[in-house]
Amino acid sequence: MVRSSMADTARQSALLNLKACTVDESSLRERGAERHVSKKRTLGESVNSQENDSAAEEERAGCWSRVGKFRSHILDVERERLEIQHEIWLISTQNKLFLAPLAAPGTILDFATGTGNWAIESARRFPNSRMFGCDTAPIQPKDVPANCTFCTTTNLEDSTTWSSSPQTFDLIHSRSMAPFFSSSPTFFESAFESLNPGGYLELQDHLVPVCSVDSSLQETDLDRWSQAFCSASRNLGISTDDSALSKPRMEAAGFVDVREVHFQWPVGTWAHGEINKQIGTLCARNLESGMQGLGREVLLQGAGLSASEVDGLIEGARSDLGNRKLHAYFSV
Ligand SMILES: C[S@@+](CC[C@H](N)C(=O)[O-])C[C@H]1O[C@@H](n2cnc3c(N)ncnc32)[C@H](O)[C@@H]1O
Repeated sequence: MVRSSMADTARQSALLNLKACTVDESSLRERGAERHVSKKRTLGESVNSQENDSAAEEERAGCWSRVGKFRSHILDVERERLEIQHEIWLISTQNKLFLAPLAAPGTILDFATGTGNWAIESARRFPNSRMFGCDTAPIQPKDVPANCTFCTTTNLEDSTTWSSSPQTFDLIHSRSMAPFFSSSPTFFESAFESLNPGGYLELQDHLVPVCSVDSSLQETDLDRWSQAFCSASRNLGISTDDSALSKPRMEAAGFVDVREVHFQWPVGTWAHGEINKQIGTLCARNLESGMQGLGREVLLQGAGLSASEVDGLIEGARSDLGNRKLHAYFSV
């Protein structure tokens, strides 16, 4: 198991926050009255209003718009990276798409669905469920299972753009979104209002900077890159450790039984065990890809470095990824 074997090595128990929360039914009923007051756009309406002209695509490019104009070469790298990350998650959770104790949710929302890989796989595994995926970027494929619908809206944190009273969910899932919330409390309130009684909200995120189980990361290029990335992200309004604050924020929104499940993802093949090696190999590829795509753009725009300085930093960090003496991992 990833968790136990990594925990043996790593004394620090930080990992990605994976939270499954139940909704307080009485409180939801109270809020239900408010839900019917205003006319809210349904997901179907959002889909129909979607116009995929390229200017609009740029405007809707979500996290990419935070680092400047949407650039297709970044998106191509990101698509590949999100596929790798999807695979890492499945290995970590022993092939589960979510940990919330729901056998077969009737209606599911994948918030900030990205390329839609999670939503499509969920729709296939739960053919009787109705799956919706939302994102600010229209980057989802067209050929999807019949029970899967994607929509694009401009401000998805406000539930008025993705929900209406008849459109409530048994499960709202969101992965790798925490850094990009402009207001996660608003999202939690929206999610709370949009869940059916007894429904679950599950977030899956990993934290940056890269950690180490010992001092092996100190004074390395990988560490320098990781620190520079976090600081540049902050300068651009992206909080790479925002998910650490999710639990109290969820509770403030009315969620009960908020649970966190932690993993540690090794970077590279230094950790013992077949699963750690599989995750570590994928994590190194994920990081390498992220450094050259979105990560490079973040540094160019937020670190105050020249292009050659950024490329030098990335080159050094990339070569560290193959160094088995560096005991680096991501907190999940
Ligand atoms: C790192 S990707 C994760 C995608 C997907 N959840 C996955 O795990 O593969 C983050 C996604 O959040 C989207 N995003 C950023 N800000 C958003 C917002 N305010 N509302 C909805 N989606 C947003 C981006 O367009 C991007 O697709």
